[in-house]
Amino acid sequence: MKTRRQMLENCIVRGSLLAGATTLSNTQLLAFWEQGEANAHKPTSTEVLGPFYRKGAPNNTTLRINGEPGFPLRVDGKVVNTKGQKVHGVKIEMWQADYKGLYDVEGYRYRTKLEVADASSYSIETILPGHYDDRPAQHLHYLITAPGHKTLITQAYFATDPFFDGDPDKNFKKRNIVASRELVRPVALYEGPGPSRASIQFDICLETL
Ligand SMILES: [Fe+2]
Repeated sequence: MKTRRQMLENCIVRGSLLAGATTLSNTQLLAFWEQGEANAHKPTSTEVLGPFYRKGAPNNTTLRINGEPGFPLRVDGKVVNTKGQKVHGVKIEMWQADYKGLYDVEGYRYRTKLEVADASSYSIETILPGHYDDRPAQHLHYLITAPGHKTLITQAYFATDPFFDGDPDKNFKKRNIVASRELVRPVALYEGPGPSRASIQFDICLETL
């Protein structure tokens, strides 16, 4: 199988890659392309770890507890590095408040440590977290590790959260809680057949060491 670089070199040889600058040498074109690739995937913004992190969560993709209140939420995402490559050996820890805004600090309710298969994608069935006074935007905490990559601590937020007053573009800086606009994710609502649920896509981009 050809590497992406070999494929690119073939394109250059066949003259099918036109950078709009025919005076560039092949080496310059390669450098130009590689720089573009490097910039194509921005590392996910970091956030604070917060006081409610607990080690030792089980590997569990379903955090929703049957019969417990809370609006169902599905989170999907993929993990790549800044070159857009799949990352192997990824471990994703995710923890969140329950529907009342409370963290389980004695057990592992609404906490997981996923071992992501080489497909580099993950999904979690959970509930929308509640609000709590210290950080009144709904959020999911993440700690992500992978061999050869920088550990990432971040959080996902919800564009539908009343905290953003219907306009996350304008209000994401409110009270200095959210580090970066892209962490506020659009929320899709699924309304049957079957139980309603919300879903977000939270992709993760890790920096290589
Ligand atoms: Fe929190």
